[in-house]
Amino acid sequence: MPKDAKIQAEADRNRELLRTVIVGHVDHGKSTLVGRLFHDTGSLPDGKMEAITEMCRKRGMPFEWAFLMDAMQAERDQGITIDTSQIWFHTEKRDYTIIDAPGHTEFLKNMVTGAAQADAALLVIDAGEGVQEQSRRHGYLLSLMGVRQVAVAVNKMDRVDYSQARFDEIEAEYRQYLNSVGVDATFVVPVSAREGDMIAMRTDGDEKANMGWYKGPTVVEAFDSFKMPEPLSHQALRMPVQDVYKFDDRRIIAGRIESGKLRVGDRVMFSPLNKSSRIKSIETWPDSRENPTAASAGESVGITLEEQIFVERGQIMSQVDNPPVETDVFRARIFWLGREPLSVKKAYKIKIGTLQANAKIESVERIVDTGDLSNREAEQVERNQVGEVIIRCKRMIALDEFTENPNTGRFVIVDGYDIAGGGIISMEGYPDQRSLSTVKSTNIYKVTTNVDRAARERRNHHKGGVLWFTGLSGAGKSTIAVALEKALFERGYSTYVLDGDNVRYGLNANLGFSPEDRAENIRRVGEVASLFSDAGVIVLSSFISPYRSDRQRARDSVGEGFHEIYVATPLEVCEERDPKGLYKKARSGEIKDFTGVSAPYEEPAEADFTLRTAERSVEECVEELLGYVGHKFDL
Ligand code: ADX
Repeated sequence: MPKDAKIQAEADRNRELLRTVIVGHVDHGKSTLVGRLFHDTGSLPDGKMEAITEMCRKRGMPFEWAFLMDAMQAERDQGITIDTSQIWFHTEKRDYTIIDAPGHTEFLKNMVTGAAQADAALLVIDAGEGVQEQSRRHGYLLSLMGVRQVAVAVNKMDRVDYSQARFDEIEAEYRQYLNSVGVDATFVVPVSAREGDMIAMRTDGDEKANMGWYKGPTVVEAFDSFKMPEPLSHQALRMPVQDVYKFDDRRIIAGRIESGKLRVGDRVMFSPLNKSSRIKSIETWPDSRENPTAASAGESVGITLEEQIFVERGQIMSQVDNPPVETDVFRARIFWLGREPLSVKKAYKIKIGTLQANAKIESVERIVDTGDLSNREAEQVERNQVGEVIIRCKRMIALDEFTENPNTGRFVIVDGYDIAGGGIISMEGYPDQRSLSTVKSTNIYKVTTNVDRAARERRNHHKGGVLWFTGLSGAGKSTIAVALEKALFERGYSTYVLDGDNVRYGLNANLGFSPEDRAENIRRVGEVASLFSDAGVIVLSSFISPYRSDRQRARDSVGEGFHEIYVATPLEVCEERDPKGLYKKARSGEIKDFTGVSAPYEEPAEADFTLRTAERSVEECVEELLGYVGHKFDL
């Protein structure tokens, strides 16, 4: 190879490579557009164009741009160019690869199992046909896979006389739909792939001035506007602990750095236990020669720590100020390959990196048919289907959202001994529980008092404890709690009502309704209820408290004497009652993250007492509860 060519090849290799996916119905001109893209960016291999033209001439067929794509596809199918990092086309700015798969099923499987990953996408839609069911599903597909950078090409503008009105109409309609599934299209570009308008060439300046009205970028410019994903070494440090080895008096923590970098002297933390220490040394494996002082993403290392803290396989090491999410429940999009369907309540094992945890599928939110991308409700996920599910683990684990960190944001599910599926993690609607379980202060010592719980109970003639009312807004929690308190008070019990709306004026005035704020709301109330209960009072707490983990935390904090009362009023009934007019506002989008409408409510798995308010009057509910309280609280 001549020297210049060698330098050029070297330089080329250092060029940015963006992984893209082009989604669209074949009839909407996807192949034509790709053919054009190759040609107009000068990315076709030498002689390819001529070969295709010649083939068409011989067969007496008119030339079609789609033939180019087909020819390249055929080459790939023969295994000549299967490398997924293969450059498909390039612009002045960078190289592009187009991740392609024979169908949706393969594409989704590749995406969720990590075989292929797209950084950006182009959606192709037909100007004549407009936004159709298929275009909606393609948009949904991207949202499902967490592809954040998206542009839309409205193709075949030549067939609608380059009409701006038609384009505007389609743009408005499609943008609105994409927004509703959480996809924000950076650009919507009117193009004619067949004529070459607005693919790589601007046609607003020439004498045809087909689309003089359009001032935005061409498809190529839109591609070039996409951002490169941050290099793994620039991202937050994540090192799943593979093993801890003991060598003489040293303990070496071994793992592969999935992202970020580390340096001797850095303070690192191990989740989910949250113990931290400084890195004392980075050991080279197997025996230390010259020990390095830093290491970064992609390297497998062994490190020693300054302090002896408990570390075990499965924990994630991070920097202290940028840790992973800590939770026992998460939302996932999974691709199921198991022979037996994935079903609710069955026990599975999940693996995230080196971590293994026992888990259950709490609910199947919906399943997506990978053939036509339609989605519907279901009880289980069958082989080759994609499902959106809620997964609950038996214990707290550390993980990331897929969109934040693909390596620690992806998991596999094991059914028995087989890997039966893979998935990506989203925390949408669920809080990071890290701050709830971390004690920040140090040097604190518990004080014991001289009046104990038993003495208080003897004086009150009843036990202290908590009646924890949970249920949707409008379920009747407060109404029943208030009525019950009056009845109990009249009968001589020491009582107190803690109510969501009230507490949010004072103690929790600084909290809103984000998942994290709700979790903190319930943590504080749980602690307050625990104190009151310790003081011998019967607390009636009335909070939606939508998350099981939060209610469990409150139960753990109160200990004996905690009673979960599920006010089981169906959503339809609450919405029908709508005492504060909030459901109406939530449906119109005026209130965001509204429980039951746009935020989750997790029903109690085993409530201590269930009230079906749709079938009973307030008086009847109070009557039932009076009996329950007498039974549980009287000495
Ligand atoms: S919780 O979810 O954090 O437990 P909490 O019981 O304190 O909620 O407060 C619920 C009350 O706040 C509701 O009865 C309603 O009046 C009001 N509210 C305001 N915004 C919302 C919202 N987005 N979701 C639910 N309730 C809301």
